[in-house]
Amino acid sequence: MENNQAIGIFDSGIGGTSIWKEIHQLLPNEKTIYLADTKNAPYGQKTREEIIALSMKNTDFLLHMNCKLIVVACNTATTNAIKELREKYSHIPFIGIEPAIKPAATNSKTQTIGILATQGTLNSELFHRTVQKYESTKIIEQVGHGLVQLIEDGKINSQEMTQLLHSYLTPMIEANIDYLVLGCSHYPYLIPQIRKILPDHIQIIDSGEAVAKQTQNLLKEYLGFATEKNGKPIFYTNANSKVLKEILGNKYDVIEKDF
Ligand code: DGL
Repeated sequence: MENNQAIGIFDSGIGGTSIWKEIHQLLPNEKTIYLADTKNAPYGQKTREEIIALSMKNTDFLLHMNCKLIVVACNTATTNAIKELREKYSHIPFIGIEPAIKPAATNSKTQTIGILATQGTLNSELFHRTVQKYESTKIIEQVGHGLVQLIEDGKINSQEMTQLLHSYLTPMIEANIDYLVLGCSHYPYLIPQIRKILPDHIQIIDSGEAVAKQTQNLLKEYLGFATEKNGKPIFYTNANSKVLKEILGNKYDVIEKDF
């Protein structure tokens, strides 16, 4: 089955490019349109109603571009709004991203895992329901206050970032976690920094690869693949295109547009 429509991907800002990279690597022929709602980032502290409204605005934009599927490359938007998105846009499939609690809890030997995510994700009903399934595992939840903003400001390698990460991760190390779940699509960009803080035996997991595989399956089973290399990826942002360009290694054009 062939289908040359684009895959639409959105996030509150530049973080979801960590998911876009996985998708683009696995499915290089697919045309992708990435939307960074940088003007409204971070979503993590917003109310559920605000997150739903912003997610719908982003979806409208991508549907206007005739996308065949929408990837919500944001844990905060997924855990707060995916149900409403699927209800409102029932004609289009959505793939969401959620913290990878399952593989961490299932494989943990110390039965203690850590999760770093936004307040919006950790407070969501969807996240609470997931956590309840793993009662025998101790889950140490930590809100990554300030991390998304620093990433959006291009300060991944700043001293401020190192200090924040130390303060969030030290209690987890002391509690004997053996898995750290990155529950925000911005955080994979912090892995080199986090790796320096965590002892080697603690594994870090995120959901990027799983989302790319799920996307591939959906195309295979229902929607269809692009027939041949289908144009360059397109990136839109509504503020600060410089940081988005930089995180993409200055390899792609970024269109700055109000939406
Ligand atoms: N990248 C997002 C996530 O996965 C959103 C972070 C935010 O905007 O606070 O949760």
